[in-house]
Order: sequence, then C-alpha cells, then structure tokens
Amino acid sequence: MPKSNIALLGFMGTGKSAVGRLTAQRLGHTYIDMDTEIEHRVGKPITRIFEEDGEPSFRAMEAALVEELAERRRMVISTGGGIVLNPDNVRRLEASGLVVCLRASPETILARVEHDTSRPLLAVEDKLQRIRELLEKRRSRYDAVSVRIDTDPLSVEETAEEVIRLFNALQEEKEC
Ligand code: S3P
Repeated sequence: MPKSNIALLGFMGTGKSAVGRLTAQRLGHTYIDMDTEIEHRVGKPITRIFEEDGEPSFRAMEAALVEELAERRRMVISTGGGIVLNPDNVRRLEASGLVVCLRASPETILARVEHDTSRPLLAVEDKLQRIRELLEKRRSRYDAVSVRIDTDPLSVEETAEEVIRLFNALQEEKEC
C-alpha cells in the first residue's frame, strides 16, 4: 500500500513518542522511534553522540535513516524535533505517507521535559528561555507542515485518535 506511513514531527516534548507508540498499536503498524533507533545503531545515547561526534554527524544519521524508512510501508515514525531543519527529510516523509506536526506551548513543553537529561539542546540553566528561542528559530519549519495538531488540551489517547482519523481520511481520499 503506497503512502501507508505516518510520521510525527514537532518540537521536543510535544508527545511524538507516546502518541506514535499508541497510534502504531491501534493501527497494527510497525512503530519506530528515530532517536532510539539511532542510539541503538551507534551504540551510545544522543547526548554522547552530540558530545563526541557533533550535531552535524547526528543530523547526517537522521537524514540517512529518513531515506531508509521512507522506503518502508505501514510504519509509524516518531522523529526527533530537529528533523525539520533539513527540508529533504520532510519531503521524503511526505512522499511516504501522512506527516503530522504536533504542537504544544513552551510551558507545556517545559513541564514534559523539565526532569529529562537526555536532550543535549536543553542542557541549560534556563530551559524555558531555550525552548522559546529554539521554537522561534524553527517556527517557519514547523508551520510549513500542513497537518498540525495542538496537543495542549489533548491527552495522548485523544491525540492518537486524531492522528488515526486524519490517516483514515487520507486513505479514503486516495481510494476515491
Ligand atoms: C532534537 C530533538 C531530540 C533529539 C535530539 C535533537 C532537536 O528528539 O533528536 O536531542 O533538535 O529538537 P525529541 O524531539 O524526541 O526530544
């Protein structure tokens, strides 16, 4: 089935992993979390990849993995928040299925990532300020994704239901 993938994009802490896992379970799709997959393949956590190999090296691994995953079918892919920095990534994912950008306010994001130490870009004293800065820098990239869900008022379950509704609508559209 062509265009049978779902890719979840969005800033850190917008719920991509939790929503992706549940969506995949409900649809019977294969779930993949890109950060986890990269950590697996490289054999070290993202923080160490950033420290030892540098961010450009991580971005190259992300791009290579997107190319690979876009060739597969019936996948739910939770991407890393910086995937939008390379427009080719978004184009490839869009060619392979539904791309949804999850959004949340800086305050919601902070509440979700506050005690997490696995994100090198948020390893700073004033996390809220950093979140605001990064969101502002990337705003146009996230806004360029035409399908977006504001997750602030939604539970993981409700967000997954909305993703599935959008996916089913896309499948029906293609059948017409
Ligand atoms: C990043 C987001 C992280 C991870 C890396 C860089 C970013 O993924 O890929 O730390 O640039 O926004 P999550 O969005 O899953 O936290």
